[in-house]
Amino acid sequence: MKKTAGKNPWARFAGKPLVAPSLLAADFMHLADQIATVIGAGAEILHVDVMDGHFVPNLAISPGVTRSIRRGCGHFLDAHLMVTDPLFFAEPFIKAGVDSITFHVESDSDPRRMIAALRQAGVGVGITVKPGTSAETVRPYAGEVDLVLVMTVEPGYGGQAFMADQVDKIRAVRDIVGPSVRVEVDGGIDADTVVRCVEAGADTFVAGASVFGADDIPAAVKALKRSIASARAR
Ligand code: DX5
Ligand code: ZN
Repeated sequence: MKKTAGKNPWARFAGKPLVAPSLLAADFMHLADQIATVIGAGAEILHVDVMDGHFVPNLAISPGVTRSIRRGCGHFLDAHLMVTDPLFFAEPFIKAGVDSITFHVESDSDPRRMIAALRQAGVGVGITVKPGTSAETVRPYAGEVDLVLVMTVEPGYGGQAFMADQVDKIRAVRDIVGPSVRVEVDGGIDADTVVRCVEAGADTFVAGASVFGADDIPAAVKALKRSIASARAR
């Protein structure tokens, strides 16, 4: 997909809820099959977790693997940088072809510089907060980003339990950013926990273990989508 400086690539999804299977939880021996499976089941975007072993005590998806994914599929790639120096890591992931980059406000890079660099590159701009970071932290950037990700687990590992005490923060972030910025949740999201996130104002839903850990992956994606649709209809 061609990138244009200053454009918001999330705009094409305006008004729609999005399910983003987290590739961290995929079986990398069968990655191409698993990506085709979740796309076939209706997942709108793919979530690419990036970890540097420093900001979080784990290592995850590299630019090289991301480039292979990009060559193999045209789906929207949502990169979540759990790294100390996101300005350093943004470039190789932009070159690898991601559509949007979300970085932590707790990282070492200056958020304004980071936002400017991502805008200039024509990728989506997301900021994210760990569970211990307040919703107010995002307020200074609310008018400048396309997405705010509220972590519903401590970043670093898949398969953790949803932190219900983050639901109020989802609501507070939605109040701060208004209706046109995407509010994403990530961590412990399944067909049950997603309901509280929808009710609090989230519209973009990352799910790892509940999708790729399921015996029937397409059924898990569809169950998530059904839950989201019925919670939005209430
Ligand atoms: C955690 C990652 C998540 C993770 C979510 O640090 O940011 O994207 O893959 O996995 P589940 O859905 O299993 O909690
Ligand atoms: Zn993530």
